Amino acid sequence: MNEARPESMSAFWMPFTNNRDFKSDPRLLVSAEGMYYKDVDGNQILDGTAGLWCVPCGHAQPRIVSAVREMIGQLDFAPTFQMGHPAAFDLAEKLMDYTGHKFGHVFYTNSGSEAVDTALKIALAYHKARGEGGRTRLIGRERGYHGVGFGGLSVGGIGPNRKAFGPLLPGVDHLPHTHNLLKNAFSRGEPDFGAELADELERLVTLHDASTIAAVIIEPVSGSTGVLVPPKGYLKKLRQICDKHGILLIFDEVITGFGRLTTPFAADYFEVEPDMMTTAKGLTNGVIPMGAVFSKRHIHDAFMDAPAGIELFHGYTYSGHPVACAASLATLEVFKEQQILEHARGIQPYWEDAVHSLKGLPHVIDLRTIGLIAGIELEPIPGKPGARAFQALKKAFADGILIRTTGDIIALSPPLILEKQHIDDLFGKLANILKNLD
Ligand SMILES: Cc1ncc(COP(=O)(O)O)c(C=O)c1O
Repeated sequence: MNEARPESMSAFWMPFTNNRDFKSDPRLLVSAEGMYYKDVDGNQILDGTAGLWCVPCGHAQPRIVSAVREMIGQLDFAPTFQMGHPAAFDLAEKLMDYTGHKFGHVFYTNSGSEAVDTALKIALAYHKARGEGGRTRLIGRERGYHGVGFGGLSVGGIGPNRKAFGPLLPGVDHLPHTHNLLKNAFSRGEPDFGAELADELERLVTLHDASTIAAVIIEPVSGSTGVLVPPKGYLKKLRQICDKHGILLIFDEVITGFGRLTTPFAADYFEVEPDMMTTAKGLTNGVIPMGAVFSKRHIHDAFMDAPAGIELFHGYTYSGHPVACAASLATLEVFKEQQILEHARGIQPYWEDAVHSLKGLPHVIDLRTIGLIAGIELEPIPGKPGARAFQALKKAFADGILIRTTGDIIALSPPLILEKQHIDDLFGKLANILKNLD
């Protein structure tokens, strides 16, 4: 393994990164195991973010590592266009088991962004297949993050992600976001205020007419925009309005899927069944890139009435890549055998109390928790949005904890295997950092 610093850092154009700042003071990870990374200087870094929300079972799970090794040696690649390999079918059945058979079919992609664009395309094609081709409008939500493809960007609602890339898809509208610090600050679980914001969908239906609307896509809990938890009753209301008007409801579960809320999916936590779910990240424990769209049977079946031939002209070279399938199958086994969800459920109250113990520390204007997620919102430095939280990120890394920031919000999402001592370490260090920020 190469644990030396790279000779030059110029050629790699880093994603979603302040390249010039990073390269002047790099944070380089060289190995990972369990709850910890190791950096290039040999320091242990406690993983407070499961990488990028994607390692629920912890790093270097032996079962996943050996499944990947074995599959690479056995079947390095196999096409899934007019061809197949057993692991892709086996995984699809096991994923349906994991959803409790609430979904009937799965379409493989390689990332969350591709899963989102796939789900949006399926929604449009589904309506067309049923003779409702006028339903072309897609509804997202302000502050939503649905990856970086043009579909996901168009329904997404984070200004800086969108503004350099227009024109985006036409015929898209957005629901308002539900974040309300005045009424909901320092919430545990779903905040009390804001279910009525779902009624904004009725307003959009009145404006555009239901016959033009294909689907609504939202993250059940928004992550990348800074942990926005849905108000009590909000998601159920959205489901009812979608049902009333024949609009498909897509949950983007790229971060909430695979245990983040201590249930298999957020749909289980909130007891709301979407028509499709997009997933990625925890699907393979982050080990091999993979995404997937879960669809209800009626969506898939609408395509199967077409004249014989290819039913959906869509797919990726690496859809159902054998090594990704092996990683995902092993991930599902780890979830079951190591009782990852049960553990997460057991530790969640301790996590929640630790997060809320930061109340009263300098700059902290909100703390919000759900499942094993925390959002810690800081008062911005006037005229320098994001600077205070970014300072916290740098100090945290120097102190041996990995946190993530978006604007002035610190978002935490540790591997679900964490124990009390990790929580104590994480929040002990974080409290000190908060006391020493500009
Ligand atoms: C809700 C959501 N959707 C989509 C994506 C995009 O996933 P990817 O980065 O794998 O394309 C993300 C990534 O964080 C996400 O949080």
